[in-house]
Amino acid sequence: MKIEVAPSIISADFANLASEVKRIEENGADLIHVDVMDGHFVPNITLGPAVAAAIRRSTKMFLDVHLMIYNPFDYIERFAEAGANRIQIHFEATEDIEDTLKYIRKCNMEVGLVFSPPTSHEMIPKYLDLCDTVLIMTVNPGFGGQSFMPEMLEKIAFTKACIDARGLKTRIEVDGGINQETAQKCIDAGAEILVAGNYLFAGDMKEKIKGFHDIKRS
Ligand code: DX5
Ligand code: ZN
Repeated sequence: MKIEVAPSIISADFANLASEVKRIEENGADLIHVDVMDGHFVPNITLGPAVAAAIRRSTKMFLDVHLMIYNPFDYIERFAEAGANRIQIHFEATEDIEDTLKYIRKCNMEVGLVFSPPTSHEMIPKYLDLCDTVLIMTVNPGFGGQSFMPEMLEKIAFTKACIDARGLKTRIEVDGGINQETAQKCIDAGAEILVAGNYLFAGDMKEKIKGFHDIKRS
């Protein structure tokens, strides 16, 4: 199992976005996680397709777009044009989950579905075979720098067991409060893609990314 590390761009210095993107690239990250918030689905506003396109102009890295917005269907094309490689929508944000996931695929991007902490694990199995990734939030979405919720480890382990039992290739991503210690717990539970903001951008990013890559599942 190869661990992938996805620094969250909203922890970067927005006044120096291109050099922050270079820093992510040079320090050995596997992809860039782009958090889009609309001020409605979550109580914060971050960035939209224009900024995603600016990130795309400064790198060839894989862009993992996490849409924390209502009516995500209406914005799929805009983010595709901006250069997104994967779009992940929230289970809680739309009535049209299946159609939206299929439309992301039709637009030639990888497909992800995100589950916020209050959403029951029982909602997850139905969508596994439509998704490349399932993103299990380990904080309530909206802000960087929050504390990891250990109760989410059971949700990760449940999802991993479903994936394995059905022989699927779906990968589990985790997002929120990830550091060396919580990353180890998430990987033990079955996660493969680690999103991290505050932890990676404070201090030696290269060392910290290496620390994540070196974690073995126990
Ligand atoms: C939270 C976002 C996260 C966040 C991660 O709503 O989806 O990607 O920026 O930041 P940290 O690692 O600081 O919790
Ligand atoms: Zn995110």
